[in-house]
Amino acid sequence: MTSSGAIPWTLMVPTCNPIEVFANSEDLAVAAAGRIAALAARAQAERGVFRLALSGGRTPHRCYEHLRHGAINWLHTEVYFSDERCLPRGDPERNDTMALETLLRHVPVPPSHIHFIPAELGPTEAAAAYIRVLASVQPLDLVLLGMGEDGHTASLFPDDCVWRSKALAVPVVDAPKPPALRVSLGLDVLNASRHKLFLVAGAEKHQALQRMKEGAQFPAALVVGAEWYVDQAALSGEVG
Ligand code: 6PG
Repeated sequence: MTSSGAIPWTLMVPTCNPIEVFANSEDLAVAAAGRIAALAARAQAERGVFRLALSGGRTPHRCYEHLRHGAINWLHTEVYFSDERCLPRGDPERNDTMALETLLRHVPVPPSHIHFIPAELGPTEAAAAYIRVLASVQPLDLVLLGMGEDGHTASLFPDDCVWRSKALAVPVVDAPKPPALRVSLGLDVLNASRHKLFLVAGAEKHQALQRMKEGAQFPAALVVGAEWYVDQAALSGEVG
């Protein structure tokens, strides 16, 4: 049983570690920020650098805000992105815009340590460029991931065979979650990462979680050995 009494998912979904269940999304955000800081300290002690891929979407906002005040040594941290939407730089709907606003503009990470996905170039050109960035920094130390209501993660969607690619970064041209054009880390990069941490909150995620417990091979379920931070609403499907 996890600290909250939930049944560890390893009994039901063999590809992940036991999940941590939190009363609400704020408790989840605080705990996730603490876990990230601990993994950063370990990576920097062992290898002198912490290579972190940030997730997009709404769920990580509060975690990122909590990370502003954490104990991470940002001078020895490199920031990557799990995926990016093919929109102009600075577009409010870009994942890097959200990360800049909630975290990166508020911590002393050297600008040269932030590796944006050049998604404004379009999926194919941006994926090729990001492959060149990723090639020399494998494995990452931590990939943060969200999960959509359909079981997607990063920009790897269930009905898009791009998650079968072995490429370090992949172009996505028909994402069902707008915008259709995206770039994503490839599944192999997610699985090669030393640590993977899913942040899943909200009753709308319950059905996808339930389907994965029943064996659905969503892209989120294909990330092996991940830690799952889930709030009670996502676990139960009940709001508030
Ligand atoms: C994106 C993200 C995507 C996100 C999930 C969950 O571009 O939106 O990369 O994978 O993590 O869709 O999104 P929410 O956290 O907003 O529910």
